[in-house]
Amino acid sequence: MKIGFGCDHAAIDLKDELIQYMLEKGYECVDYGTNYDEDGEIIKCDYPAKGEEVGRAVVSKEVDYGVLICGTGIGISVSANKVPGVIAAVCSEPYSARLTKQHNNANIIAFGARVVGVELAKMILDEFFGAEFEGGRHQRRVDMIREIEKR
Ligand code: RB5
Repeated sequence: MKIGFGCDHAAIDLKDELIQYMLEKGYECVDYGTNYDEDGEIIKCDYPAKGEEVGRAVVSKEVDYGVLICGTGIGISVSANKVPGVIAAVCSEPYSARLTKQHNNANIIAFGARVVGVELAKMILDEFFGAEFEGGRHQRRVDMIREIEKR
């Protein structure tokens, strides 16, 4: 499974730690930045740009899922959700992370580097990537979301 990671300048260190964590678990990871430059300076990045970039990578199947991180997780997920086909959910704890895959068929998980610590973020990723979409009555509701996009 290939996971695309994106963040703004508030979340580089957390993004890098999580990429390492997921690589060690055997996932393929694509780093869409932002990052530090060669002088160790933060490459500033506005969260809407990164939300859109990773959102489009998910919808085009360049990657299977996305992980987006900004200060709160809100701006970057709201931006990704503007890309038709994206369902990005901000989750600050593991229960919501599991349920958003099982019920909403979310293809992007987001959180805030100023909200969750690294160990909690790892638990959130474990729950999200360990869960499966349940289909059934949830499929009908996800289809309704797609219909909103068309209108
Ligand atoms: C950047 O300072 C901050 O606004 C951003 O990371 C995020 O929290 C927006 O939702």
